[in-house]
Amino acid sequence: MTRDRATKRHTRKEASVPPRKAAAPPRPDPATLDIVIWPDPVLTRPAEEVGTIDSWLLQVVERMKQLMESHEGVGLAAPQVGLPLRLFVMAEKAKADQAVTVINPVLELDSHTEAAEEGCLSLPGIRGQVIRAKSVTLTGYDLKGDPISMPLEGFPARIAQHENDHLDGVLILSRMPPSARIALGKKLRELRTRS
Ligand code: NI
Repeated sequence: MTRDRATKRHTRKEASVPPRKAAAPPRPDPATLDIVIWPDPVLTRPAEEVGTIDSWLLQVVERMKQLMESHEGVGLAAPQVGLPLRLFVMAEKAKADQAVTVINPVLELDSHTEAAEEGCLSLPGIRGQVIRAKSVTLTGYDLKGDPISMPLEGFPARIAQHENDHLDGVLILSRMPPSARIALGKKLRELRTRS
């Protein structure tokens, strides 16, 4: 897992400037964005690097912060509002005005790990134990496009890892032991059939 992540990180760095794309990604009205619930495929696909920070993106981030706070979340990644972009917001007290925004984040994981329970706004009613690095260094860009680097420990480190996973299309389901996933079978079936 760690090696795999390191490889991905390396690949992203090499392709650091705006990805070549055949078609422009959709730019929905930020006011219409809402939380996307599993099994929507946007949640399990890797997201694209952000190429430009413009007024649309700033409005998207504002909307994400509001949605995070109103759903009492401590973090929200762009794929969770249906946008396959590498950015997330996080705030350990679930307050929009205290949220940190990280664009094109990269995580350096410490080798010490610990397990704790996590939930996810895209998996309502689902909680489970997930093993994460105890501390990380989070780098990326802020909303002005300036580089940021933050050492994080404990809960904020966990949030950053959870949100960064969303950008790789990874949900807590695939971080839980198989026995836990089996135990969640009924709840997962309910989510599958609610749409
Ligand atoms: Ni989540």
